[in-house]
Amino acid sequence: MELWHDRILILDFGSQYTQLIARRVREAHVYSQILPCTVPLATITAYRPKGIILSGGPASVYERKAPRVSRQLFDLGVPVLGICYGMQLMTHLLDGEVTKASRREYGRAELIIDDDSDLFKGVGTARATTVWMSHGDRIERMPKGFRSIAHTHNSPVAAMKLADASRQFYCLQFHPEVAHTVGGFRLLQNFVHEICGCKPTWTMHSYVDTAVAQIRETVGKGKVICALSGGVDSSVAAVLAHRAIGKQLTCIFVDNGVLRQGEGEQVRKTFTTQLKLNLHFLDRSAQFVKALKGVADPERKRKIIGRLFIENFEKEAKRLRHVDYLVQGTLYPDVIESVSFKGPSATIKTHHNVGGLPTKMRLKLIEPLRELFKDEVRVLGKELGLPDDITWRQPFPGPGLAIRILGPVTKERLDMLKAAEAIVAWEIMNAGLYQEIWQAFAVLLPIRTVGVMGDQRTYEHVVAIRAVTSLDGMTADWARLPPELLGTISNRIINEVRGVNRVVYDVSSKPPSTIEWE
Ligand code: XMP
Repeated sequence: MELWHDRILILDFGSQYTQLIARRVREAHVYSQILPCTVPLATITAYRPKGIILSGGPASVYERKAPRVSRQLFDLGVPVLGICYGMQLMTHLLDGEVTKASRREYGRAELIIDDDSDLFKGVGTARATTVWMSHGDRIERMPKGFRSIAHTHNSPVAAMKLADASRQFYCLQFHPEVAHTVGGFRLLQNFVHEICGCKPTWTMHSYVDTAVAQIRETVGKGKVICALSGGVDSSVAAVLAHRAIGKQLTCIFVDNGVLRQGEGEQVRKTFTTQLKLNLHFLDRSAQFVKALKGVADPERKRKIIGRLFIENFEKEAKRLRHVDYLVQGTLYPDVIESVSFKGPSATIKTHHNVGGLPTKMRLKLIEPLRELFKDEVRVLGKELGLPDDITWRQPFPGPGLAIRILGPVTKERLDMLKAAEAIVAWEIMNAGLYQEIWQAFAVLLPIRTVGVMGDQRTYEHVVAIRAVTSLDGMTADWARLPPELLGTISNRIINEVRGVNRVVYDVSSKPPSTIEWE
């Protein structure tokens, strides 16, 4: 089994597109790693890259605090590709000249290819293609030895190269990693396969082998725990770790009482009976529901649930004694915020993570999904034999149904929402829409409305249905569910869930609305 694969190193200068570069490299079946541009040269050489990509970034090379890399990077004898800011930085470091463009170029541009012998081989038709530009600075004078290999109406040097016996440097003013750049993937393939000579060995199967070997090597004979949530990320991370270290891994699942109907039992069955993991199942529903009594403020609900979760988890971990590692299902989009040089604000998402565990418990982290996106994690889950009902499970917030019951959580309201939620999920699945919808769920509103049932007037609860499409949860659109389906859901909830006499459908997008109501 080959464990040392050819690798590309991606140095991040804070571009929103850095993770896309890595993804494209992986789609070309090549291993890659993103590191912040601030890492020392020794870290870069230790990684033994076959090629280096300098990402874009928001800075301008002449700013006092502009991020730099060591000039020695260009003496390592490996090909370097600079994208946008990466191009300007390379120009600056190799004694070319960068200036402010008279106007910022943003959006699609027509690129004329002047040399299609290597990087641009097979890109575009009749030596022209469409590319995605996003830059304010431009190349005034190329560094010595470089020549232009593509231009646009605005940029005489939209791409340049220096290729001689010992150096292979390429620069692009535009973003090949973005889907709007036609032929961008082919271009990156040319770079990693032809120019860097990387063998295409990345497959999900080889990824499993590599991850398993890495976990074994890291853990040795150590003891490992994992907080299982029932969601796809922590489940896949747990199963991967289990494949590597078997019984050295203990999973802890805390039933907080605000899960979906039957969810705790389903997790218990899947992980013990089917997957044979060592699972400590803690039913703490009564404790959580008691602590939530009378609490209407959503942030307080979040805090109470978060604190109790950590308390229970820590106590159980202590009981296990001498635990060294914590497995977490951190995904690539979460990682990028911490490794990126000047990434997007992390604050929007802080409440979305089960934060606090590793720092408080001083456990070393194992994050075997750090390189992957959600859809890739699903493929990995399948590869590892996880059932579809886990790999395709829609995201579910940590504070669970507590933040979908507006106002205080009571046993009665919880039962109502669980029943309504189950109907929504069942009908969406039955309509074959479960996988294309990011999240579909019911929300119990803190108001009552008038209705009639038989000859009686009723004054009962309202359930709102929320269904959204989204790629990452950061932005979302309300799902155009067929009216017949909405009708069925509404009828079933009103007929089957005692205490509800009205159902409404939420037609708001994010932003400005959020996905959850609290
Ligand atoms: P919003 O409501 O902010 O949600 O549009 C975006 C995504 O995050 C989930 N979400 C949470 N997940 N703890 C979590 O673990 C939370 O407190 C929380 N609040 C929202 C939400 O379900 C959606 O997928």
